[in-house]
Amino acid sequence: MTKQVLLTGGAGYIGSHIYVALIAAGYDVTIYDNFDNASKDVPDRLEQITGQKPDVIEADILDRTSLRACFSSRKFDAVIHLAARKSVAESVARPLDYFETNIAGIIILLQEMERAGLKDIVFSSSATVYGHPEQKSLPETAEVSHTNPYGFTKLTSEQILSQAQAADAGLNVGILRYFNPAGAHPSGLIGDDPNSLPNNLLPYLAEVALGNAPHLNVFGTDYDTPDGTGLRDYIHVDDLARGHVLSRATLLDKQCSHLVNLGTGRAVSVMEMLKAYSAACGRNLRHKNQPRRAGDVTIYCADPSLAKRILGFETTKDVMDMCNSSWNWVQKNKSRNEMKGD
Ligand SMILES: NC(=O)c1ccc[n+]([C@@H]2O[C@H](COP(=O)([O-])OP(=O)(O)OC[C@H]3O[C@@H](n4cnc5c(N)ncnc54)[C@H](O)[C@@H]3O)[C@@H](O)[C@H]2O)c1
Repeated sequence: MTKQVLLTGGAGYIGSHIYVALIAAGYDVTIYDNFDNASKDVPDRLEQITGQKPDVIEADILDRTSLRACFSSRKFDAVIHLAARKSVAESVARPLDYFETNIAGIIILLQEMERAGLKDIVFSSSATVYGHPEQKSLPETAEVSHTNPYGFTKLTSEQILSQAQAADAGLNVGILRYFNPAGAHPSGLIGDDPNSLPNNLLPYLAEVALGNAPHLNVFGTDYDTPDGTGLRDYIHVDDLARGHVLSRATLLDKQCSHLVNLGTGRAVSVMEMLKAYSAACGRNLRHKNQPRRAGDVTIYCADPSLAKRILGFETTKDVMDMCNSSWNWVQKNKSRNEMKGD
């Protein structure tokens, strides 16, 4: 049986780690990416890690002609779809661009998959579909909503997949709702590579540790949590990548469609993460307490039990693994942003 996967967005942060995990699991993988948010040297770095030159198609997910040519030139048995725009703030400023890439993108992809007779798709969704949750632990049955255009595109994509499946029972769909991906590959060759000062906690702490930002702003210290700061579920990107391999295998072996959270089920506070990153970089990182931000919630944490039951997925890496691997990555790649958009 062929095990050939098309990995859209495979040159990006999470996609590059999935590529490594798929190769290690014995899959043939083709990366399809327009390099809008990825460095051109990612394929070389993937070759250094895997010992194998990646098959890369540089093209846009909206380019139907390229997608069609890609499907007719290779015999895939699954698509793992990550190619998307991902900034919440940018989505508020430019919603139509987000609707085009993230929603039109998945529609074109599904149409071309149908044309090529391809029946298996794994889709990267996000815990953002839970909106502003009240619950301490979020099972997949929790209420969903959107609070910004990015979240709208993820929720709409989930619904598009579900409706497409209703019309074609042969379509196998794995929807993975990521919590907060963090950390980097132990080689330090691939990792999160933001274009500008990031909003996410770990990449921001990396900037503070590198001296590019003076301190961490801690928004809200009066939450009902042990240290007063907000709690989030961070998942190591290597664990997340393994979740995709298991999702793909579950579709392949059992034709079992699924919608699952990928998280650890353990919530970590902002102050705990600050301490862990300080330990990783070897000095106490500065922080300033600030008022709560509008829209932030006390806790955002996965109930990971369904992913365990359906995929056999459990995380293996902890917060120190995330901070140590992030620090290793950023130290080795201080001048990296200059390469983006070449
Ligand atoms: N990073 C997170 O915190 C997070 C959380 C939940 C879900 N996700 C989802 O995971 C996926 C990957 O996220 P990431 O953090 O690796 O982001 P990323 O920006 O690093 O990777 C996305 C990749 O898709 C490519 N891409 C973007 N638009 C494209 C297009 N039109 N055609 C072809 N390729 C295109 C980019 O060049 C990039 O390599 C996205 O779908 C994102 O929404 C990310």
